[in-house]
Amino acid sequence: MKAVAIQEFGPADGLRVVEVPEPAPGAGQVLIETEAIGVGGVDAVIRRGTLGSYGFKTGHIPGSEVAGTVIGVGEGLDGSLKGRRMWAFTGTGGGYAEKAVASDFLPIPESLSSEDAVAIGTSGAVAHFALAHAHFRKGEAVLVRGAAGSIGVSAVQLAARSAKTVAVTTSSTARGERLKKLGATEVLDRAASGEGKYDVIIDLIAGPNLPDFFDKLNPNGRLVVVGVVGGMPPADFAAKLLQNFQKSLSFMTFSADTVPRAELQRVRLEQFEDAAFHGVVHEILPLDEAAKAHQKMDDGEVFGRIVLKP
Ligand SMILES: NC(=O)c1ccc[n+]([C@@H]2O[C@H](COP(=O)([O-])OP(=O)(O)OC[C@H]3O[C@@H](n4cnc5c(N)ncnc54)[C@H](OP(=O)(O)O)[C@@H]3O)[C@@H](O)[C@H]2O)c1
Repeated sequence: MKAVAIQEFGPADGLRVVEVPEPAPGAGQVLIETEAIGVGGVDAVIRRGTLGSYGFKTGHIPGSEVAGTVIGVGEGLDGSLKGRRMWAFTGTGGGYAEKAVASDFLPIPESLSSEDAVAIGTSGAVAHFALAHAHFRKGEAVLVRGAAGSIGVSAVQLAARSAKTVAVTTSSTARGERLKKLGATEVLDRAASGEGKYDVIIDLIAGPNLPDFFDKLNPNGRLVVVGVVGGMPPADFAAKLLQNFQKSLSFMTFSADTVPRAELQRVRLEQFEDAAFHGVVHEILPLDEAAKAHQKMDDGEVFGRIVLKP
């Protein structure tokens, strides 16, 4: 079968089309003929080689999120799953291929396209549980830092359902307008310049400017780092937190890895069935053009998620 593998770590053109044997479903796994493959930020992190020391080797097939039709089942699974359209999480790789195996899968309602399923599947659940982790409550003011990415566009939609205000950081006016359509009430530059104060900050960026955001919290405010798109913060970042001592602030990190799988599946299914919750697909490209998709991510062009189609 055709797949796309990392043949050289580093720039996007290290991703190349390869012929590999079709995977066989192990116990508890389905074999899916892929219709849509989500291109995630973590795929690019792996490709750049940043995680090289974690054991990824050349020939690694990236991609953790696919949707398509079940064409085979492993031991312990009911054969009647064959023919059903499923969303699936394939782990840290295996998704950029015509066929993929997974043990973590969920049926896709007829009303939802496979492209939208991979735009919502991971990012919607991460956004939901990040807001819950931040103890976000109705009527609070929320800032989503890095709102134009796939998790950000989900966090904006979810927060907008009950927040007093939803501020977003973005680098472009055009993206700001699109974020307003998703529910943002205030569009800020990447530094969130201005006097606004927030009860909750969902932070996808971290990076050198992280400490400045502690000043933007209201008393009892909570800042949750969900991603480190901007890199690591300065080693003494907590000093700024302590300088705000009188405000009883909380700093947290959040990883969906800490959420029980059944909970993730429950929320995913709810979101798949929720007609008012939208996946944001930036562009659909053929699987062969995975390198182009990664280049677009590296160039900061993507709003929401790029989807590959075999
Ligand atoms: N915690 C979890 O469980 C979990 C699960 C999955 C993924 N993640 C992580 O979540 C993060 C976000 O993923 P994503 O796909 O939503 O985001 P993304 O597309 O990688 O980036 C989000 C946005 O951040 C802005 N940005 C980029 N570089 C920046 C910089 N140096 N400073 C400030 N803003 C910058 C860009 O928007 P503008 O140009 O408009 O500013 C970009 O669209 C990633 O680190 C991913 O690995 C976490």
